[in-house]
Amino acid sequence: MVYLKAIESVDPELAREIHGELNRQREGLEMIPSENFASVAVMEALGSILTNKYSEGYPGKRYYGGNQNIDLIERRAINRAKSLFGVVHANVQAYSGSPANFAVYMALCSPGETIMGQNLSDGGHLTHGSKASITGKLFNSVPYHVNKEGYLDIGEVRKLALEHKPKLIWVGSTAYPRRLPFEEFGKIADESGAYLAADISHISGLIAGGAHESPVRHAHIVTTTTHKTLRGPRGAIIMVTEKGISKDPELPEKIDKTIFPGMQGGPHDHVTAGIAVALKEASSESFKEYAKQIIRNSVALAEELNKNDIKLVTGGSDNHLILIDLTPFGPGKGVFAQEALDAACITTNKNTVPNEPSSPFYPSGIRLGTPALTTRGMREDEMRKIGALISKVIKSVKDYELPQGKAERSECLAKFREELKGEKVIEEVRGAVLEICKEFPLYPGL
Ligand SMILES: Cc1ncc(COP(=O)(O)O)c(C=O)c1O
Repeated sequence: MVYLKAIESVDPELAREIHGELNRQREGLEMIPSENFASVAVMEALGSILTNKYSEGYPGKRYYGGNQNIDLIERRAINRAKSLFGVVHANVQAYSGSPANFAVYMALCSPGETIMGQNLSDGGHLTHGSKASITGKLFNSVPYHVNKEGYLDIGEVRKLALEHKPKLIWVGSTAYPRRLPFEEFGKIADESGAYLAADISHISGLIAGGAHESPVRHAHIVTTTTHKTLRGPRGAIIMVTEKGISKDPELPEKIDKTIFPGMQGGPHDHVTAGIAVALKEASSESFKEYAKQIIRNSVALAEELNKNDIKLVTGGSDNHLILIDLTPFGPGKGVFAQEALDAACITTNKNTVPNEPSSPFYPSGIRLGTPALTTRGMREDEMRKIGALISKVIKSVKDYELPQGKAERSECLAKFREELKGEKVIEEVRGAVLEICKEFPLYPGL
């Protein structure tokens, strides 16, 4: 095997661990909605000699010599981002999504000012003002929520925005199975005088592929990670729209200065090159088809789960993501479902549900999605099979109860994991998963 040849000779133990992970990815169903499989071309860029270079600054304005090639690469990534998303300015240097979002705060707000974002257990992201994140500590965070059907409560967003007059409103989520109403958010930001930042991390691939409405006409700033539906390397892009420039012509400069020298040192040039590759891939016709198929798959999977009496937040999905609500089986059951699915080689993550009756570490939901399986080439037929397998696993563990005490909980989970090993349902499902995986080989060239 050529893959990892050099690591195998330098560090065989580490090579074994990476091969172990490659096999796990190949022989399981990767259904965490924020994960995907980057192309070999993206990974070549990441593993390239670009990792050797220092290039603090921006193209044409560097603090180090020897950046003639890096300038070309970074300009290429920037131009591709601008053209793919239709924005005026793009910064591709943020190390990942959380620092990108933090840079937006630091460019627009002063500590103590009011900001608004979707509440964490209602599907929002930590960096949108959660008290557990530095963003909720540094700023006066006013969270908005979903209604009892699980949809964003736009009436509440408007009411809170007009009452609190935030400097910045975030729209974008991490566990929301429905389309984001960017136009309404744009109007609310205009009415209340706020900046609107759309964090499209989860859905940027859907937007690039024309399968979800773009926020570009409605938001002043758009941020995205590059490693989720966009299928690139781990990184982020911060974009300024025409609407953003009209509100504040200095926005591009403010963003760039906040990233460097404000928050970061040298950009990760190998990642920048990987972003450039991913953006080229995302502008192809086949990526448009990929984006649409992600949603068709999610709809088919949701239908199958519904058919098997598994409750879903909002009753379904119209993006890449599904949130299973396990509260009909009792509070805090997400951990059992996640562990049981893991044992059957179906990777998902436990997640809070709106009005969470338990806690973020022992939540009552499971979040799953279709971007990675769609990259493998799976379609609606496979989704229906997988939906039935997931339902079977969940029902097989629905009666497990979490004890109240912390120590008892770890003991109970350790015992649960042992019991899973000999479980007939888990073994059967694992066998069926392996059959599906064999039909859709992952990284066959490696
Ligand atoms: C909506 C959203 N924004 C930001 C982030 C943060 O990205 P990162 O994990 O790269 O810091 C995430 C990650 O899950 C996300 O879902």
